[in-house]
Amino acid sequence: MPKVLIIGAGYLGHRFQEAMEDVLLTDKIIDTVRDVEDLLREYHPEAVLNCAGTTGVPNVDWCESHPVETYKGNTVLPLLLAEACQKHGIHLTHLGSGCVFYGTSPEEAGWREEDHANPSATYSRSKYAADLVLTTLPNVAIARLRMPIDSRPGARNLIDKLANYPKIIDVENSVTVVDDLIDVVRQLIEKRGEGIFHVVNPGTMRHKDLMTLYKELVDPDHTCEWITEDDLVRQGLAVKRRSNNIMQSHRLEEIGIHMRPINEALCDTMIKYAEAKRGNK
Ligand SMILES: NC(=O)c1ccc[n+]([C@@H]2O[C@H](COP(=O)([O-])OP(=O)(O)OC[C@H]3O[C@@H](n4cnc5c(N)ncnc54)[C@H](OP(=O)(O)O)[C@@H]3O)[C@@H](O)[C@H]2O)c1
Repeated sequence: MPKVLIIGAGYLGHRFQEAMEDVLLTDKIIDTVRDVEDLLREYHPEAVLNCAGTTGVPNVDWCESHPVETYKGNTVLPLLLAEACQKHGIHLTHLGSGCVFYGTSPEEAGWREEDHANPSATYSRSKYAADLVLTTLPNVAIARLRMPIDSRPGARNLIDKLANYPKIIDVENSVTVVDDLIDVVRQLIEKRGEGIFHVVNPGTMRHKDLMTLYKELVDPDHTCEWITEDDLVRQGLAVKRRSNNIMQSHRLEEIGIHMRPINEALCDTMIKYAEAKRGNK
């Protein structure tokens, strides 16, 4: 029997499946609490990890024109999972998003786990709506990540995304290295964490930092045009302004979970990414 049942066979669901031991990834589509209970009875997991959600194709702009589907996937689904897990006394870890915060935080050091968010886009609102309910429940951890940076090349990786955009904005953000996310989630499950955790690497990163490292380690010939945030929507490159923000992460430290500083983690990740690219050629 698997220790952890992973729901949602998308990008992160597969990454967790590959990297964690004793897990089972299901691609079953959940519509009811009964669907979840059937899975719990079949697999008897010790914990559930929710990697399912509605992220939009090709991107979150899709959610603006599909609000019902978006809320179903990002708000209703986590509640169905939580209800079933509560009934069976099983710990649930849910992947939340740091994109619930827009702009300047009340404290200079960044948005805290306990701050009220100010989501604007439909995707962000639907993620925050789930957080508001899940934080009222015991035995549920919400791991908020931001802009995953992955050592594996792929369309959902921020490295690939930025490398493939001809025009890029340069903003300072909190970000999450995927290898570190996996390690943190594994520990959150072991420690049966409760409440919201900001799973971002300490420090901040500008898009220019990432691209400088990309040029140095992956493709010295890479070029792009740098544009402003206003240009992104003005030039029709995005429907809605993206969330840019800086987050503090004190709740992980409080329970003894540490993440590598972003400079160190980014450099290590880009080296592995470059090796993987060379291996793919
Ligand atoms: N990747 C990011 O940049 C990022 C950042 C912050 C937070 N997150 C959160 O992390 C989670 C996973 O993200 P991801 O990037 O892996 O997304 P993804 O690649 O879109 O995967 C989500 C998966 O959930 C499945 N799903 C949707 N509704 C479902 C349902 N009712 N029952 C079972 N499965 C369902 C989808 O299936 P279909 O494809 O068939 O719809 C898809 O396979 C999401 O909650 C997302 O909000 C992601």
